[in-house]
Amino acid sequence: MNFSNQLITWYNINSRDLPWRQTNDPYKIWLSEIILQQTKVQQGLPYFNNFICEFPTIFDLANSSEDKVLKLWQGLGYYSRARNLHYTAKYICFSCNGNFPQNYKDILNLKGVGEYTASAISSFAFNKNYAVLDGNVIRVLSRVFGIYNYFDTSSGKKQFKKLADFNLPLKDSYTYNQAIMEFGALVCTPKTPKCINCIFQDECYAFNNSKVQILPKKQNKIKVKNRYLNFLIVSIGDHVLLKKKNKGIWSGLYEFPSLEFKKDISKNNVVESSQWTNFFYRNNFQINNISPIIVHKLSHQKLHIRFIHIKSDKVKPNTYQLFKKDQLLQLPVSKAIENYLSQSFI
Ligand code: ADE
Ligand code: SF4
Repeated sequence: MNFSNQLITWYNINSRDLPWRQTNDPYKIWLSEIILQQTKVQQGLPYFNNFICEFPTIFDLANSSEDKVLKLWQGLGYYSRARNLHYTAKYICFSCNGNFPQNYKDILNLKGVGEYTASAISSFAFNKNYAVLDGNVIRVLSRVFGIYNYFDTSSGKKQFKKLADFNLPLKDSYTYNQAIMEFGALVCTPKTPKCINCIFQDECYAFNNSKVQILPKKQNKIKVKNRYLNFLIVSIGDHVLLKKKNKGIWSGLYEFPSLEFKKDISKNNVVESSQWTNFFYRNNFQINNISPIIVHKLSHQKLHIRFIHIKSDKVKPNTYQLFKKDQLLQLPVSKAIENYLSQSFI
C-alpha cells in the first residue's frame, strides 16, 4: 500500500470526531482553520464552539461588534487573525451577497487567508484537489521521507509543497488531508512521537536512521525583542482609565495607560521619568501598589511588565476613557492583562 492509502486507512480507524469534520459549510471550516492555526485542537475546540454558538452564520459574525469578536478570541493571541476574520465576514456578506468564494484564487484573496487556509477550505468545503501544508504535514513528510531542507526558507517550502502535491490522491483528497494532519497531531508529534506503534516504522527514514529528534529542520531567524512596559492602573472612584488601541499587535484591545522604556529601569526611575510627569501633569495621584515584574513571552517579543496601581482624581480626558471597574471583564484585553486581572484586585 502506498503512503497516502496507509494514512487514509489509519485515519478511518483512529480519527477524532470533531465538529468541523461533520460539515462542508465553508464558514465553519474557515473559522476552524483560522482558530487551529493558533492552537491545538483541544484548546481550540471551546473557542470554535463559542464562536458558532454566538455566530451560527457568517452574517451573525459580520453584524457583530469588533469588541465582541475580540472578546471571544481573547487568550488565543495574534489578534490580527480575529480582526481579519471579522473584516472578511463583512466583506463576504456585504460585498459578495453572502456567497463564500469557491475558487482557490478567490479564497486566497480573502484577508487573513494564506495558502494553507485556502487549500484547507478548497479541500474540506469544496472537495477540490489541493494539498494542505501546515506544521503537522511538514513534520510527517520530513521524517518519513528524510527531508533535511529548512522548511522556513523558500527552497524548503517549495520542496515540501512538491512532495505534498505528489502524495495527494486524486480520489478522496479530503480524507488524505485530514489524515495527514491528524497523524501529525496524534502520532508523529513534535517531541515524543509514538514511533513504537507507528504504521510507518518499516519505511520511515527518521525512525530508521535515528533522526526523529532533528527533523524537520528549521532555520529560525526570529529575533525576539525585549520590551519594558509599565501599565498604570489609574483608579478614579469606582472607575479606571483605559484606551482602545488602534495599532500594533494589540490593535482593537483595551489597555491601561502604559509607559514604555528602552531598558529595565527601577520603579523609582519610572516614577521620576519625564513620561510619568507628562502623564500626571498637575493632577494629584497616590501610588497604592506596584507589582513585581511579570515576564510574558510572545512569538517575537519578550515583555517585561510592571503594573502600578494608582489612585487619582482627575485625568486628561481626551486620550483615555473611564470604565466602571465591574465592566472591565467584559472588554477584550491582551493575555498579559487578562492574567493579571484574574489574580489581582484593582
Ligand atoms: N489542524 C489544522 N486543521 C485541522 C483539522 N482540520 N483537523 C485537526 N487538526 C487540524
Ligand atoms: Fe513519525 Fe516515528 Fe512514525 Fe516516523 S516512525 S512517521 S517519526 S511516528
